[in-house]
Amino acid sequence: MFELLPDKNCDLCPRLKSFIDDNREKFPDKYNAPVPSFGDRDAELLIVGLAPGLKGANFTGRPFTGDYAGDLLYATLLKSGFAKGEYKARKDDGLELINARITNAVKCVPPENKPNGAEINTCIQFLKREFETMPNLKIILSLGLVSHNAVLKTLGHKQSAFKFAHGAVHDMGGGLKLVDSYHCSRYNTNTGRLTTKMFEDAFQTISLRL
Ligand code: URA
Repeated sequence: MFELLPDKNCDLCPRLKSFIDDNREKFPDKYNAPVPSFGDRDAELLIVGLAPGLKGANFTGRPFTGDYAGDLLYATLLKSGFAKGEYKARKDDGLELINARITNAVKCVPPENKPNGAEINTCIQFLKREFETMPNLKIILSLGLVSHNAVLKTLGHKQSAFKFAHGAVHDMGGGLKLVDSYHCSRYNTNTGRLTTKMFEDAFQTISLRL
């Protein structure tokens, strides 16, 4: 049986393992390991990001916690009723997700924020376990094309049958929907590809379907 999270010293992806080893030396007091999902497994919504950011999730041990993408994601979750408490960019800030869980397509931080195809494929086994162990899962929100493609692959669907588009709602069968959003990265917001309103609208689309 596959585990839900790679082992702390997972070496399935040699490049990612060696990057984590380097970062353990450089930043010994930081988390530097595969980052576990955050939120209740009973949730109906699963948000799938790309991979931990070096100084965000990889430092703090919680997805999207401590970097720019997390500032926008958690603010939007709080505003749209999918979180309560206060986001303070720390794992122990007491923030709670409501009917939502957050994970990443790739669980280990990749160099330059870019996992390669083999790493994405290798980590799909953990995404699969994630889906299998969420009994009430109704909506998967993919943040960006890499997540969208990883989710399709995990569910055994053809990429060509479901084109990525911000705000799109795809029927995955069995009552499961895939909603797409541009990734809430600093690059996407700085270039105007993703505005706060567009991101909030994606969560509105989800709320209306739960
Ligand atoms: N931090 C994460 O945990 N995931 C992302 O996709 C980006 C930043």
